[in-house]
Amino acid sequence: MRVAIVGATGAVGHELLKVLEGSTLQFDELLLFASPRSAGSTLPFRGQDLTVQVTPEGAIDAELILASAGGSISKEKAPAWVAGGAVVIDNSSAFRYDPEVPLVVPEVNGEAALSHKGIIANPNCTTAIAVVAVAPIHRAYGVRRMIVSTYQATSGAGAKGMDELLQETHKVLHGQEAGAEVFAHPIPFNVIPHIDAFQDNGYTKEEMKVAWETRKIIGDESLKISCTAVRIPTLRTHSEAITLELERPATPEEVRALLAGAAGVEVRDTPAEKLYPMPLTASGKYNVEVGRIRPSLVFDGGIDLFVAGDQLLKGAALNAVQIAEYLQQKGALKARTQV
Ligand code: A2P
Repeated sequence: MRVAIVGATGAVGHELLKVLEGSTLQFDELLLFASPRSAGSTLPFRGQDLTVQVTPEGAIDAELILASAGGSISKEKAPAWVAGGAVVIDNSSAFRYDPEVPLVVPEVNGEAALSHKGIIANPNCTTAIAVVAVAPIHRAYGVRRMIVSTYQATSGAGAKGMDELLQETHKVLHGQEAGAEVFAHPIPFNVIPHIDAFQDNGYTKEEMKVAWETRKIIGDESLKISCTAVRIPTLRTHSEAITLELERPATPEEVRALLAGAAGVEVRDTPAEKLYPMPLTASGKYNVEVGRIRPSLVFDGGIDLFVAGDQLLKGAALNAVQIAEYLQQKGALKARTQV
């Protein structure tokens, strides 16, 4: 089996290479693609230097394609990749809202991946991190309403977002004024309540993605969700404050015990010892940290919590590879390649 990464030189591409190194996914060859700018450069993988190629116009000779080069590339090229026989796991938002395309977080709705017609969508990073913690609570207690405030790292805007944070911070520390190209305003020593484009309803697209995608992954269109998405000057890992109104009342102890046994979650909730989720501790981890679990003071029987998850991993690369592993475990990847 041949696996291809499109967008291999990007922030998520780098993480895909690292996650694949340690993955149980069985494959024979890894092909790397990016823009013409990167053609001929090499990236290390399992002791070899693999050469980055220009992404071709049409089909790619691989059974599995992990796409992470942005929505316009996916939209333009994925149909040809599927026509060529590949299964595409797409990290962009290009196909997430297509009813024919499963939107998958394996811990929550892995079986949805089996109904794919060539493309499986990887969710928005903020959503993927939230649902790992919220889905088990929804299953046990029924979430009625969910209010989310996010604290999102610059790598959510790709490698260029991280570069802008470092360069502009360096400028400020040397007495110069910080500028902004990737972000709407200078990011050093600032927080910016603006991620993606504003919509007619006053919310940003990032905020609406959390609502749309959480409902689709959890499979409950009646769930009411409101989100405020904020960019902060960190390099990686998104954090989120989440308030849940529940159908059946839950205590913090019950939720802590439930999440302690949930896949993909690390309960980090000992405030007396200053242990709670933070980008500093969650970065590089496969599990999403969940803590500050306490009773809601607004919704009787509801719960407030705080999560921090490495959005380049669970929010992107790791989730994509976990979908591929799930398909292979179920024989779905092989079945398709034998067609
Ligand atoms: P390149 O590094 O050659 O520009 P990020 O999300 O970190 O910004 O990364 C985006 C990824 O998408 C990079 O690997 C980038 O490659 C790739 N990319 C950008 N434009 C194209 C394109 N037109 N065709 C293929 N890959 C592209």
